[in-house]
Amino acid sequence: MRFHIMTLFPEIFNSYMSESIMKRAVEKGIIEVNIYNIRDFSTNKHKKVDDYPFGGGAGMVMTPQPIYDTYKHIVDKFNIKEPRVIYLTPKGKVHSQNIASEMSTFKDVILLCGHYEGIDQRIIDSIVTDEISIGDYVLTGGELPALILIDSISRLIPGVLNQNESFEEESFKDNLLEYPHYTRPREFMGIEVPEVLLSGNHKKIDEWRHEKSIEITKERRPDLYKKACK
Ligand code: ADE
Repeated sequence: MRFHIMTLFPEIFNSYMSESIMKRAVEKGIIEVNIYNIRDFSTNKHKKVDDYPFGGGAGMVMTPQPIYDTYKHIVDKFNIKEPRVIYLTPKGKVHSQNIASEMSTFKDVILLCGHYEGIDQRIIDSIVTDEISIGDYVLTGGELPALILIDSISRLIPGVLNQNESFEEESFKDNLLEYPHYTRPREFMGIEVPEVLLSGNHKKIDEWRHEKSIEITKERRPDLYKKACK
């Protein structure tokens, strides 16, 4: 799968993509991450990428030309027939495991990171296919949200996680949060590992974990719990 990132701050992506599971996924050739500096595509003689909003008001707006030209460059270079262009914005649909799962089947994903007050609406109307938010709070730009998308999507692509890192049993599977984990030592600060986990009885262990999942979901996320019961 190929991620194409349109950003004004390309450096932000380098360190995250060169560590741990993301690094391994890139090295294995399962994911490819191409980063484009929108400013490089500005035709303005000062490489300007923003301007004052028509109608007045605070802040600057990213101009359409450099964004559109970056997009054109990507689509032409990779011969992308039906481009999926995801604009990261607090106004978007809230990201979820289901969205990550659906996107993990795409061949190319173009991520557009906004800055300042936002981008010219005509870019959204003409090239953006999905507007995604990572939650009900406002960040200074779309770069962290883009990394969150890349991470949550990549780990669902076959071959990215190894067996030990499997996502078969984790939070949001069947709308339940995950059960608690314990490792050595058996006792820490006077707290013992639950007896059942030491029993070797896998049926009992599965039952205990399922109960714990239900308990924690009911307590922390009644919205998910309702869905889980359906
Ligand atoms: N850009 C700024 N805040 C954001 C958010 N919450 N989600 C996605 N993109 C953003």
